[in-house]
Amino acid sequence: MTRARAEREQALTTVRRGIFQCRKCRLGAGRHHAVPGEGPPGAQVMFVGEAPGAREDASGRPFCGRAGVYLDRMLALAELDRGAVFITGSVKCRPPGNREPRRDELATCREAWLKRQLELVAPGLVVTLGGVGLAQVAGPDHTLAEVRGSLIHADGRPVLPTYHPAAGMRFPRVARAMEQDFETLRRLLAAGLPRDR
Ligand code: URA
Repeated sequence: MTRARAEREQALTTVRRGIFQCRKCRLGAGRHHAVPGEGPPGAQVMFVGEAPGAREDASGRPFCGRAGVYLDRMLALAELDRGAVFITGSVKCRPPGNREPRRDELATCREAWLKRQLELVAPGLVVTLGGVGLAQVAGPDHTLAEVRGSLIHADGRPVLPTYHPAAGMRFPRVARAMEQDFETLRRLLAAGLPRDR
């Protein structure tokens, strides 16, 4: 392992520890486990979802329930292994009753943790899962319906927005769109991504 990579891995471990102890917003008070996300530093693709649900809160692992099984199916369409990608959320702690994360919780978590994870993982491409993930990574000016399945840029990074797996599971129209988007992802990866590392 190169020294730069070892340093990056160490820094990501420090971020994980910080997330486990985080009390920067009200979500920290109600969680069982924080869910920092997982994947190798230097992963080519980073996925940003919304927020941990009950199963993720119980286990500390992202997308480990039914939406995770669905996400794995989508990853297979893009010829990606879960172990090769970095998967995290817009916030790292479960909102009570699975409500949407609030604006201040999102801003706090983005500034404290997500931005640092993006810097350290330095993916060639970010895939946002759902409208919350899109706004968290690319700001509030995009509508998911308008940009899904097309490459946009945020902070100089390519971003491919798609729907959240929980929506793909429920709505056939969304499922069809997600299949197209993960096929687009497969093609982008096959063509080679710009890598910033
Ligand atoms: N974000 C999600 O949407 N789900 C998870 O499991 C973790 C983060």
